[in-house]
Amino acid sequence: EQTMITLNNGTVIPQVGLGVFRTPDGDVTVNAVQAALEAGYRHIDTAMIYRNETSVGEGMRRSGVPREDVFVTTKLWNDDIRAHRAKAAFEESLDRLGFDYVDLYLIHWPADGWQQAWDDMQEIAASGRAKAIGVSNFHQHHINELLANSDVVPAVDQIESSPQFTNQELVDFVHGHGMAAEAWSPLGGTGGNLLGEPLLAEIGAKYGKSAAQVVIRWHIQRGMVVLPKSVHAERIRQNIDVFDFALTADDMAAINTLSTGHRNSADPDNFDF
Ligand code: A2P
Repeated sequence: EQTMITLNNGTVIPQVGLGVFRTPDGDVTVNAVQAALEAGYRHIDTAMIYRNETSVGEGMRRSGVPREDVFVTTKLWNDDIRAHRAKAAFEESLDRLGFDYVDLYLIHWPADGWQQAWDDMQEIAASGRAKAIGVSNFHQHHINELLANSDVVPAVDQIESSPQFTNQELVDFVHGHGMAAEAWSPLGGTGGNLLGEPLLAEIGAKYGKSAAQVVIRWHIQRGMVVLPKSVHAERIRQNIDVFDFALTADDMAAINTLSTGHRNSADPDNFDF
């Protein structure tokens, strides 16, 4: 049975969602989304900059799963933040998806102008066409600045988190403010070889699960929303088949020792895109 998390505005989000970063527009994304929905996923996480919103919408329609049964997130891109185009960019995302609402709309990175974007997103939320709003790649200091100027607490902060870079301090801070923490690159992304770590295979062998399933389960048990990406139907199915076993406290602690403290990707205080 899939687990769910209730966001601070009452919206319910499935804890595992399909990530579609680096998933090419067209058949690859359509097929991945369709395979995910057929495997029981009810949560898809896209973004304007992934350039595949059209295919996400197409995969949803082809699956026959009703729109209202699926939690869909998209994100406001940095150029649109800098150009103060939040409302127009949101309309464009809805048009590409072919939806009349999204479940969650996020500020993708704290690009210059994000403070105004947050005001605009509150208006979008008030219109009912984004059921929840939140941020991504915000550090503690960004969240503190936001909260000092807004009565609306973001529903989520979506951040890099994996056994290699747990980001645990930020996760705890986010949870401490009543927000959900979502993990991107939850399997370590394409950089290192996290899934090749013998420890993960050893733990998985106890439960008849793969390294990827162990890592996804580790995220679930630390209270994260987890967004594994795959374009392969078999892996997509595997990545949500994680609700029939539980890691022990010792397993969890052993996985935490894989931490290197190094990010796979950009630091939200220093990015050039
Ligand atoms: P692929 O799409 O070819 O399956 P992330 O940490 O960003 O979610 O990255 C996951 C990476 O691991 C992707 O490159 C993905 O590649 C791969 N992957 C996803 N699921 C699995 C799995 N169950 N087993 C092995 N590799 C996986």
